[in-house]
Amino acid sequence: MRCAFLPFALPDINDAEYSQVKETLASGWITTGPKTRLFEAEFAVYVGARYAIAVNSCTAAMHLALEAVGLQRGDEVITTPYTFAATAEVVRYFDARPVLVDICAEDFNINPAHIEAAITPRTKAIIPVHIAGLAADLDAIYAIAERHGLAVIEDAAHSFPTLHKGRTIGMPPIGRALRHAVCFSFYATKTITTGEGGMICTDNDDIAERCRIMALHGISKDAWKRYTAEGSWYYEIVAPGYKYNMTDVAAAMGLAQLGKAERMAARRRAIAQRYNAAFADLPEVQTPLDPEQQRPPACQGCSCSPTEMQCSHAWHLYMLRLNLERLTIDRARFIELLKAHNIGVSVHFIPLHLHPYYRETYGYRPQDYPVAYAEYLREISLPIYSKMSDEDVNDVITAVRAIVAEHRR
Ligand SMILES: Cc1ncc(COP(=O)(O)O)c(C=O)c1O
Repeated sequence: MRCAFLPFALPDINDAEYSQVKETLASGWITTGPKTRLFEAEFAVYVGARYAIAVNSCTAAMHLALEAVGLQRGDEVITTPYTFAATAEVVRYFDARPVLVDICAEDFNINPAHIEAAITPRTKAIIPVHIAGLAADLDAIYAIAERHGLAVIEDAAHSFPTLHKGRTIGMPPIGRALRHAVCFSFYATKTITTGEGGMICTDNDDIAERCRIMALHGISKDAWKRYTAEGSWYYEIVAPGYKYNMTDVAAAMGLAQLGKAERMAARRRAIAQRYNAAFADLPEVQTPLDPEQQRPPACQGCSCSPTEMQCSHAWHLYMLRLNLERLTIDRARFIELLKAHNIGVSVHFIPLHLHPYYRETYGYRPQDYPVAYAEYLREISLPIYSKMSDEDVNDVITAVRAIVAEHRR
């Protein structure tokens, strides 16, 4: 057994971040400024978006995007129960209602087959979440949104970089007449990090303009420049906005992280492939779907091969499922045993409808979303991050296999 505890997640920080941040601190300009603008420009190019607006979290990004599409009190927004608190809380900020639609068992993503039944005259938007870094069925979701005149705000907190049918998540849906924004997270555990941070990507001029203004107190364009030589002391408040801007210190980290995003993504992919291969012969567990090898639900209708599908997974999370009927222990005990092997683990996610706030506000019962509930009960997330050594990966594999071997039914 390993002697040191393997953390569940660690950021990949080295000289690139130190020197970028040092340069920013020395420049005398540490809040929103040139580094933030450069980070936005480079991020936009990376994902293929016309606009990228940097903010201080994905939560802020989704709040601004919903504000920009005009969400109002009493409106409804369709999303998934299988997500983090942020996805639905931003809807509640407006006193609007998150309407939950159950997931597909294969990939934990919202099941588009159930979306239309949840649409009412009050529905204004859909928030699909690309769980773990595998894209939801965007073709189906966009088509529904277009038919019903709804906005789509993608929660892409886990999916940088993710390829979906040849397009990077963050690119606008070509040929679709809908209001659309994609929100990324740079939280400490994410695939690239600025400590805390987020990005809104869109090709819609009005959404971009509104998000930019509302991210900084609702004051007129380029408000951040008012202390620079080319800036003006004069500004106008056009709406009561928020304080969601990204600092240049954070953007400096983001630039360094973006510079090594390919390497970090390749490492995560290699770890996922090692885990998938190492657990393939164990009927006691179900490995996550790898869109480079298997057809994800979003591609069920296509006839092309995995390579032709051009889909990839960001592998923010490695979500292993336990086939509990084949084990003599439950999920809680499995986690305790992994911890006893010095392996950090987590569970993603406790579905929203099981939490006291949503239960009490909307009267949900566990079985209201049977797929989300059933999959949650058997999920564990294993460590997956670019700083893991081959030895770390082997330790995780050894621990999982040992626990399974000792407790198979
Ligand atoms: C699915 C999902 N959406 C949104 C968020 C919120 O991201 P942030 O912490 O950047 O606000 C998270 C954070 O973990 C998340 O997992």
